Amino acid sequence: MDLPAFPLVLGIESSCDEMAAAVVRGGREILASVVEGQHDVHRPYGGVVPELASRDHVRAVSHVARAALEAAGVDANELDGIAVTSGPGLVGSLLVGLSFGKALGFRLGVPLVGVHHLVGHLVAAELAEPDLAPPYLGLVVSGGHTALYRVESDGPALLGETRDDAAGEAFDKVAVLLGLGFPGGPAVSKAAEQGDPAAVDFPRPMSKQPGLDFSYSGLKTAVAIEIERRGGRAALQSAEIADLAASFEAAATDVLVTKARRALRREGLGSVAVVGGVAANRRLREQMTAVGEREGFRVVFPPSNLCTDNAAMIAAAGARLLERGERDALDLNAFSRAPLGSRAGG
Ligand code: KG4
Ligand code: ZN
Repeated sequence: MDLPAFPLVLGIESSCDEMAAAVVRGGREILASVVEGQHDVHRPYGGVVPELASRDHVRAVSHVARAALEAAGVDANELDGIAVTSGPGLVGSLLVGLSFGKALGFRLGVPLVGVHHLVGHLVAAELAEPDLAPPYLGLVVSGGHTALYRVESDGPALLGETRDDAAGEAFDKVAVLLGLGFPGGPAVSKAAEQGDPAAVDFPRPMSKQPGLDFSYSGLKTAVAIEIERRGGRAALQSAEIADLAASFEAAATDVLVTKARRALRREGLGSVAVVGGVAANRRLREQMTAVGEREGFRVVFPPSNLCTDNAAMIAAAGARLLERGERDALDLNAFSRAPLGSRAGG
């Protein structure tokens, strides 16, 4: 029996501080993708405040979903399925998107499927470059995760991950240390443009050790110690801030390139897809692409708006699950943490 097709899927994403909705056709074509961030809500606190995030999602969810349908020129009754991020993420935030998706799916009588946020990030690469086919290496670098996967058609297998902070978390913490404001990743990256990446030789944690794991908390501490050595943040000149940002960014991104090359060799793969918010980083994009050209592997970076959190990736991942016959019932729950893919090898 042929499995039913799911031409029009509404995706909903609310795992952290972005409320997003998108309509994707045939699992590949983005008809509309709307993202409403909450930076102004969290800026005074220098980081995401979970309770404020979920409250703002309640405010935004209906109009963001409506805006996506309108921009796609699709009536809700035409939808064939609903895909919603069920985790990992902030549970209060996830529950807002999840409850909305369940209610809409129930009212329309269409199937609902929960999507693992990291599967969504990985699928963004296939959305960006439709001829990218498994097996390939997936490098997820976001605010909550830093991990390498061997992506096969039946799902990803974990090759290595961070033992402490995520890469994006390190960018966010260094932004606070340097007084660069919120959100941290883009702020550090912008300051780094004026700086010298060789000004301070920060450690490249775990690069000398074998294996494919990462560690970012030591690098963040190294930046803190260097700031103290120079008399504290208040004593820093803006040129020094730029140099520290650039040197940190170089160390943080070098490690990602080193480990991706190692994983490609070890796994005998010819392509790497770099996804998640940190994949929007310009230096990482330039370095990885240059090494790929030199060494003959394909490097896929989705456009920045598909790297940071969005619902198009969730709709596309959901369409793949629905086509495989996967469904979730109304008791689908949110989860804050869950590993993706069992660990393959050492
Ligand atoms: O994937 P994402 O939007 O949300 C999570 O799933 O975590 O990633 C957000 C992370 C944040 O830590 C943010 O600082 C980082 O991605 N980020 C960047 C850049 N843009 C966003 N880090 C470095 N350079 C950027 N341009
Ligand atoms: Zn994310």
